[in-house]
Amino acid sequence: MQSIAWYTSLVLILLLTAIFIAVLRRSHDSGDAAEVARRAYGPRGKLFALALAAGVVITLVTLLPWPHQLQAGAGIDRVVDATARQWSWELSESEARVGERIEFRVNSEDVNHGFALYDPAMQLVSQIQAMPGYTNRLQYTFEEPGEYRILCLEYCGMAHHAMTASFTVLPADQQQ
Ligand code: CUA
Repeated sequence: MQSIAWYTSLVLILLLTAIFIAVLRRSHDSGDAAEVARRAYGPRGKLFALALAAGVVITLVTLLPWPHQLQAGAGIDRVVDATARQWSWELSESEARVGERIEFRVNSEDVNHGFALYDPAMQLVSQIQAMPGYTNRLQYTFEEPGEYRILCLEYCGMAHHAMTASFTVLPADQQQ
């Protein structure tokens, strides 16, 4: 997912650069100012409508699977309380099974922290803020067993980097 986002960004940046260079070249062409202005601004209305339509579609497609909408959904198999403090995580449970719907209830005893869940290959799979005075709910269903890591994703002071914990996901058929 991260690499897809990266390559998409790269393609878009290259495309924008190409358009920018093309516009720059054309602006150096000889011709009267009115003609140049007509060529430059003529398609603007259509481009705006196109960009607006694309913006609406992209927003809808990317927001539909938003975790906050999923939170209204069906049953939770396991609740894990996750309390952040400078500089450690306290988890009410440190194991789960593949296929279980987990709800992490995340809060903080001091400052803002970031609760970030990493898979065994250290790819970020989900994250939510850990805030004092609030309990933020993050639902996640593990699809692969292994040792997951919880890292702090919000700079919270000197030992921010040391704020890690592990979370074990067992195969679906294994008894705990
Ligand atoms: Cu807690 Cu960074």
